[in-house]
Amino acid sequence: MYSLPSLLQILSFLILASFSVAAPLLKKDLASYDPNSAFQSALNATWSTFWNYQYNSFSANDPTCQGAEFTSPVVWDIAVAGRALTDSGDQAKINAAVQNLLQYRRTDGWFSASTAKDGDVYVDDNSQVLWVFVDAFKVTGNQDYLDVAQRLMVLIRSQWNSQSGGVQWKLDGDYIASISTSEAALAAVRLYEVSPDPDLVYFAQDCLNWLYSNLQDPADYLFYDGLTASTGVVNKGKLTYTVGTALSTLAYLNKFTGSNSFIVSAVALGYAAAGGKGAFYGSNGYWNNQLQYVHLLFAGIADLVNIGVAANSQQSAAFGNFASEAKRNGAYIYTYLQLGNSGNYLSSVTSGPQSMFSKYATAFQGTGSYSPDSTYFCGGNVSGAVSRSFMDDSSAAQVFYEITRL
Ligand SMILES: *[C@@H]1O[C@H](CO)[C@@H](O)[C@H](O)[C@H]1NC(C)=O
Ligand SMILES: *[C@@H]1O[C@H](CO)[C@@H](O)[C@H](O)[C@H]1NC(C)=O
Repeated sequence: MYSLPSLLQILSFLILASFSVAAPLLKKDLASYDPNSAFQSALNATWSTFWNYQYNSFSANDPTCQGAEFTSPVVWDIAVAGRALTDSGDQAKINAAVQNLLQYRRTDGWFSASTAKDGDVYVDDNSQVLWVFVDAFKVTGNQDYLDVAQRLMVLIRSQWNSQSGGVQWKLDGDYIASISTSEAALAAVRLYEVSPDPDLVYFAQDCLNWLYSNLQDPADYLFYDGLTASTGVVNKGKLTYTVGTALSTLAYLNKFTGSNSFIVSAVALGYAAAGGKGAFYGSNGYWNNQLQYVHLLFAGIADLVNIGVAANSQQSAAFGNFASEAKRNGAYIYTYLQLGNSGNYLSSVTSGPQSMFSKYATAFQGTGSYSPDSTYFCGGNVSGAVSRSFMDDSSAAQVFYEITRL
């Protein structure tokens, strides 16, 4: 019974070894840059490109595209921009983003995906909204913002599934996502910082315990996407934002409880996500997730090394390794995913303008071919002008902010 697994292990070792032979090709010119300037520039680009003063709202569309009309973004995108703004401490813009988010708030306190304020409500989006309100309260001291966050926490906790456990992804839905569960946990510990109710810490621990027991892949320690409560069927996709928010939560739990067991878990999880190989790495040797997912991995690493306390030299070394890996990936984003020096970014180096791909292809020969995607171009015309991305710009701003903490 042992011969087959060990043969497979040898084979996979050989496959990995053959990848690392190609490694010298990958150490390509990364720009040396100042993360704080990159943060300011990405944030400024996000605001100046997408804020619409007529509607007092961000727009989902790039207004420089001919014929582009103002379109309300989904609430998730505004929450990501909102976090980037709270990181900046700019009170006027924070208040503007908070008012923009309130255009999505139903009378019962949930935030809908759209300004229709209908039943299209995602619990994970609401956790991201809660983080913005907690941070906006911290910067401005406005008690109304804390009240909104506290109401949201009650609602989010009501989405714990009584049958299977875990936090439902869509309001009253049957799918239990790892992301809605890990983001609810992070919402609880972030709220605890400004409103210390011990129940919040217990809730966060319940969420992570459930995640580890039900959705961790024993082969690589990463988390599956989720499961359907009524059937138990697991969706085995994996994304960086679940790991990132789990790392952040573990760091806060270490801080609030003093227990090093959370750091032990975080170090294992960190190596699974940021150890140089595995599901999150592309053939070019860098993290492969879109910016909207990966920025929370940067945040998780920054939270771990700033909030978590390493208790021994192995844990300190792990913190250092994760920080280096985040910086390396940040330099990659700065160098290859930026549109010129504009502070605007695109998630995909192969799907945007030809000039962006050409620069990349020169450095990373043979890892990816050009396939322009109409969503990145004005009017969907892949021969025409680039249509910049509100979500990508906001996510990039957060990436560089987190790097300033490392
Ligand atoms: C902010 O963006 C505007 C519009 O693109 C630009 O004119 C300005 O120079 C930028 N400011 C900074 C500090 O980057
Ligand atoms: C697409 O853009 C190119 C370059 O601006 C232009 O020549 C072409 O007519 C456009 N195609 C359509 C269908 O608009």
